[in-house]
Amino acid sequence: MRSSVIIAIDGPAASGKSSVSRALARRLGFAYVNSGAMYRAATWWMLRRGANPDDPASVLALLPRMQFECGLENGASTIRVDGADPSSHLCDGEVNEHVSALSRIPEVRRLLVEKQRHYAGICDLVMEGRDIGSVVFPDTPFKFYIDAAPEIRARRRARQGQRDAITERDLADTSRKTSPLTIAEDAYVIDSSNLTIDGVVGEIVGRLKLKGLEVPE
Ligand code: CDP
Repeated sequence: MRSSVIIAIDGPAASGKSSVSRALARRLGFAYVNSGAMYRAATWWMLRRGANPDDPASVLALLPRMQFECGLENGASTIRVDGADPSSHLCDGEVNEHVSALSRIPEVRRLLVEKQRHYAGICDLVMEGRDIGSVVFPDTPFKFYIDAAPEIRARRRARQGQRDAITERDLADTSRKTSPLTIAEDAYVIDSSNLTIDGVVGEIVGRLKLKGLEVPE
């Protein structure tokens, strides 16, 4: 059996990872998996149940009861928590505010990384996040790190109409002990500050071809 092709896309908040990853997956005919949505969904559920992500004990008390199911629909990842679809809440202000605290908890990461790795047994995929190239799929030869100037990222998020303190979130994500946001040694870095989504996708496709991956025209 051929093993899946995995394209890892990491980067800081609002760097354009999601739009680029979705467009790239469509171009390649791969599934698109948003690992950040998993951390967001878990945060939403924990807050709803009264846990405080800044207090790991309150999260760990509820974690065994969180029924977290990941799937695929029309080529993109889906999530259900206790049977509920959290998608309309993933960008709520309170989720933005607490997701980095929840993501710092090793037991939460262990659970979600296992779900993320499960996709590799099913199909070829583009997965975006913070630790995809460094921790989740360190053996993939296709790793990208998408960045953009902080003021551009802040502007992009504000344009989406969201309350989101991205500087604080970046600091929490880069400074945590478990799986911090980092540039994997063998990742190809793209500064998207002055590029369109198509421009970034084009750069990634060029690099994939150079590395021997067949890309449909
Ligand atoms: O919206 P944005 O692209 O900034 O973030 P996201 O990809 O939706 O991720 C939300 C948060 O989840 C991040 O700030 C991290 O704290 C956490 N996360 C993580 O720890 N590891 C991942 N692989 C993906 C997200």
